[in-house]
Amino acid sequence: MPIKSTNISAVEHRVEKDARWRANGHRGGVLWFTGLSGSGKTTLALELERTLFAKGWQAYVLDGDNVRHGLSSDLGFSPADRTENIRRIGEVAGLFADSGFLVLTAFISPYRADRKLARGAASDTFHEVYLEADVEACEKRDPKGLYVKARRGEIPDFTGISAPYEAPEKPELAIDTAALDVAQSLAILLDYAERNFAFDG
Ligand code: ADX
Repeated sequence: MPIKSTNISAVEHRVEKDARWRANGHRGGVLWFTGLSGSGKTTLALELERTLFAKGWQAYVLDGDNVRHGLSSDLGFSPADRTENIRRIGEVAGLFADSGFLVLTAFISPYRADRKLARGAASDTFHEVYLEADVEACEKRDPKGLYVKARRGEIPDFTGISAPYEAPEKPELAIDTAALDVAQSLAILLDYAERNFAFDG
């Protein structure tokens, strides 16, 4: 997105990135969960946050339903609004990552181009985590009763039913949450976080 302001100049932080990582015992970064509604993004992100926090990590979940009550309260589910939602979250996640946090984002983020922009905002610390439960599996669970409503035509532009979901082509991590339970998926995530973000430098 072009920068509208003029007469602005960026400043450098006076705390080194390594110093933040050393203090936290892990690198900052973004685990970007993507998948259909009901694929387990929120459940797994919250469980991983709790587990990492108990280990002393600085981990924080940014969740779609929560963010849409605040930062993105002016946005709906049109393609343009979803793009703006993901742009904002991508920027926020990038800032959190820069501050040393491991950010866990739980957004459907259905468009590849939007996820690519979010990746750009967090540079090399961005890891895409695809929760690959298909529509049938998510609809069977339907934890919020939204698929039933969407099938009845009561929710326009519902992802997987009347709006598209573009699956990641090369996610850093893919978990088949239709086949694995929460504990199994969490174990994979924890191992992944430790292997990629632990820092003892
Ligand atoms: S995104 O597409 O912009 O990434 P986001 O993750 O913020 O979506 O919000 C998705 C959540 O909003 C879903 O988990 C569901 O609870 C709710 N929701 C309400 N309407 C829709 C819709 N039309 N499509 C998808 N999710 C919806």
